[in-house]
Amino acid sequence: MGKVKIGLLGMGTVGSGIWNILKTNRDEILRNCGYEVEVSRILVQNLNRKRDVDAPADLYTDDFQDILEDDEIEIVVEVMGGIEPAREYILRAMEANKHVVSANKALIASHGKEIFEKAKSKNVMFLYEASVAGGIPVLSTIRESLAGNKVEEVMGIVNGTTNYILTKMAKDGVDFDSVLKEAQDKGYAELDPTADVEGYDAAHKLTILGSLSFGANIDFSSVYREGIINITPTDIEYAKELGYAIKLLAIGKDRGGDIEMRVHPTFIPLDHPLASVGDVFNAVFLKGNAVGDLMFYGRGAGDMPTGSAVVGDIMDIVKNKDNIYYASNSVDEKTVKPMEETVCKYYIRIMVKDKPGVLGKIASKFGESNVSLSSVIQKGRKTPTVSLVFITHNSKEGNIRKAMNNILSIDEVVEIANLIRVENGVDE
Ligand code: HSE
Repeated sequence: MGKVKIGLLGMGTVGSGIWNILKTNRDEILRNCGYEVEVSRILVQNLNRKRDVDAPADLYTDDFQDILEDDEIEIVVEVMGGIEPAREYILRAMEANKHVVSANKALIASHGKEIFEKAKSKNVMFLYEASVAGGIPVLSTIRESLAGNKVEEVMGIVNGTTNYILTKMAKDGVDFDSVLKEAQDKGYAELDPTADVEGYDAAHKLTILGSLSFGANIDFSSVYREGIINITPTDIEYAKELGYAIKLLAIGKDRGGDIEMRVHPTFIPLDHPLASVGDVFNAVFLKGNAVGDLMFYGRGAGDMPTGSAVVGDIMDIVKNKDNIYYASNSVDEKTVKPMEETVCKYYIRIMVKDKPGVLGKIASKFGESNVSLSSVIQKGRKTPTVSLVFITHNSKEGNIRKAMNNILSIDEVVEIANLIRVENGVDE
């Protein structure tokens, strides 16, 4: 029986999941890949910290050289997170002819090209299934089972924290700040929630998903990003009334020409499969030109689901290390369409002083900017300011922005309370 030794960089949540899976599923792993997979060194920052896993103390080191110079270690697994020194360690491990598995979405989204090129030049494998949607095997499925398709569209709920917050806001009618606080108290949300609630985490994942789906090098900085902090219970109520749920969607489209890459809160019809994905769950909805619509659903975070994806990658390398393949099909430099050129429907809620003629003035400004309206709702007459809610027909974002500027110049308009894009999930 052969043995493959791995060096683990990091022993946090994901590291302990990997350790426990390798131990608990030892027989399955041996049967499925023909080798025993053994963690032979673990790199940590603090050797004295008490950890919840039963790894022997002599496996730990705080010196990366111990892993780099150990010729018996064939695979380095990076689950330490952050950009540096993770990037440096991955490149040096490859330079030392070691295969690498990583779960580091921020790193792959921002430095993927450099890492893929290094892997290719050193003839080593680099796999990163856990970087997008945790335990959901979406990257390998796109790369392998869907290789005969042109992927035209991906739409994902790829951040569990924001999905939990939006689900709770919709169920209980409570505001964003209260749900965030409760989620932090329960340990569901980070104490610094910026990466999740401002959409950075989802944008990193979309960069990776889009690059693989569309066979393109995509620059993370060209992905449009908007978080969920401005979503209010009022907007969620209107959405429900109009037959929609609000979800933070990571959307990529490749319909010829420039591609669309955007992360933002989105109205999605209640009967769309993504609308019923609740709590911390993730889902990726995908349209291939041969396969049609597909949806993947599961846990996008946590020690065991994320560990499951990492262990799958380790075993993939073990099985293919003598006949390696490259897990990137980023062959083209594709340009991301500027947001102003994007076309979709919009929900726009405007606070106005309730006076005769205001609606007409606003409607004219929409018309002058070439934005066609599909419906208008006004509710309540008791307060001095009221919400006017507009749903537009398909419109160019640039025209919508122009209309918003012009509408703000109307005296009776108090504020644009919210603007949320609408995806109907069908070609129109
Ligand atoms: N913070 C992420 C989430 C999990 O909330 O989904 C790690 O990618």
